[in-house]
Amino acid sequence: MRSLQVTKWITLASLSYSAIAQIKIPSNGPYSVSISTAKLTDPTRIDPWDPNNGTRSIMTSLFYPIPKSSCRKHCSTPYMSGLTASVVEQTAGLPNGTASAFQLDTCCKVSSRRPNPSTIPLVIFSHGLGSSRFLHSAQIQALAASGYAVLAIDHPYDAVVVEFPNDPPVYGTLAGKLASNPGLIPIGARLRAADVTFALNELSKRKVVSLFLPGATCAFNTKRATVFGHSYGGTTSILALTSDSRLIGGFDMDGAIQGFGESSRTKKPVILAGTSVHNSTTDSSWRTYWPRLEGYKREFDIQQTGHYVYTDAPVLVALAGLTPPPGLGSQLGELGSTRGRYVFDAIVSLLKDFMDFSFKGVESDLLKNPGTVFPEVVDVEHDSL
Ligand SMILES: *[C@@H]1O[C@H](CO)[C@@H](O)[C@H](O)[C@H]1NC(C)=O
Ligand SMILES: *[C@@H]1O[C@H](CO)[C@@H](O)[C@H](O)[C@H]1NC(C)=O
Ligand SMILES: *[C@@H]1O[C@H](CO)[C@@H](O)[C@H](O)[C@H]1NC(C)=O
Repeated sequence: MRSLQVTKWITLASLSYSAIAQIKIPSNGPYSVSISTAKLTDPTRIDPWDPNNGTRSIMTSLFYPIPKSSCRKHCSTPYMSGLTASVVEQTAGLPNGTASAFQLDTCCKVSSRRPNPSTIPLVIFSHGLGSSRFLHSAQIQALAASGYAVLAIDHPYDAVVVEFPNDPPVYGTLAGKLASNPGLIPIGARLRAADVTFALNELSKRKVVSLFLPGATCAFNTKRATVFGHSYGGTTSILALTSDSRLIGGFDMDGAIQGFGESSRTKKPVILAGTSVHNSTTDSSWRTYWPRLEGYKREFDIQQTGHYVYTDAPVLVALAGLTPPPGLGSQLGELGSTRGRYVFDAIVSLLKDFMDFSFKGVESDLLKNPGTVFPEVVDVEHDSL
């Protein structure tokens, strides 16, 4: 089951054969991007995965677009936060400092005008099971650099590890639970969708937005937002889209559709993005629920790719100049292993154009006919299924 696929950190081991020097992930696009993090606690929900029955908290990063002329200072920001990097390194038996070698180019000082986020379109991101929001930082930054504010959520007990400020880290336990009890999969998906809804609620409050954007004059306009995610996070995206009226578009990167109610359906725009190994031919949920996606809908399958091609792994491999070992290579597919930057750009372009479509209703040439821009992207005709 695709949504149960757990990121296998061990495969990252071979990203480096010895500790590597700092590697800067370039940031292109019309905007610079600031990154700020905050813990958000929902006092109305008990966390069902917390053995101590505590309230549900999520850890989040806001990637916020800054006009280039307003950015006073650029900084190198670690791609992954410290403990996550060391958990990755230890789990994978990596030399110290390998996962933390990657750096993002961020805007760390903005000219004095107070931020007005109400005019910036908002996107929510949800990671895969056993993965981390950090493994999508480059992808999210690229989307933010085109003018979107993106809030990335870490779902605790579900991500490999979640680091909260001033609190002990929460290690992932859910992958094992779901493997032995698949009945929990829809429950976990609904919890994640509730995290998305909670995040939107929070971003509608100026006080909360000020945690990310000090001095913000107002909150985000959360009446219209979009959502995307990888794997179980793709599942989450489609579920949240059907359950939260504020969400106006959902982009599912290679996740099964699960947790739907008997009558769930949506008229909102949806993209199901698959690979040459996982798509509507192999995943019955994509076929079963296709008729219940009643609005604009597309299935794009990227040829010669595998499940992890939708994470940052392809671009990290490319930047580090490494040939991925067989384990990782097979999960990236041929294209992801050899042309990481290209496939990363293709995915970011699809994401960006889908967000543009959701917010502005304008379908780009890329969405209309992706194969003319990226020949590996196959637009699947569902009527023929
Ligand atoms: C948490 O709640 C469950 C179910 O209500 C209960 O059985 C368990 O004892 C509680 N655990 C703690 C640590 O309070
Ligand atoms: C990595 O760093 C940690 C903490 O600094 C240290 O305890 C550990 O021995 C180091 N491991 C290796 C393999 O160098
Ligand atoms: C879907 O997956 C199957 C099985 O791997 C593959 O044969 C087929 O080519 C894929 N379809 C597309 C459009 O990539």
